[in-house]
Amino acid sequence: MDKVTLQIVRGNQQEGATTEQYEVPYMDGMSLLDAIFWIREHEDPSLSVRYSCRSANACKECSAVVDGKTGFLCSIRAKAGETARIEPITGRPWIKDLVTVLE
Ligand code: FES
Repeated sequence: MDKVTLQIVRGNQQEGATTEQYEVPYMDGMSLLDAIFWIREHEDPSLSVRYSCRSANACKECSAVVDGKTGFLCSIRAKAGETARIEPITGRPWIKDLVTVLE
C-alpha cells in the first residue's frame, strides 16, 4: 500500500517546537487535512489542527505552511510516496501544533 509521510512541527509557544514524522496510508484524492485526520484517529488524537468547512476553502481556518509555502490543508492533495513538511503559520501567536491565533 502506498504511504504518505508527513513531518509535522508540533509544540507551543512556551515549550518550543519538535518535528514528528508520521506514515499515513494513501487514498486517492486525499488532502493533507485528511491525512492529519487519519493520524488523529489512529496514532495521536492530541495532534491539534483547526478546520471548519473541511474542503471548500471557505473558512480558511486550516491554513499552514506546507513545504515552505502557505496554503490550506484541506485543498492541498497528499502525494503517494512523497513527504510533506507541515508547519504552523508564522507571524501569528502560536497556540498548539498547527493552531495559531486567527486573524
Ligand atoms: S477547512 Fe475550511 S478552508 Fe480548509
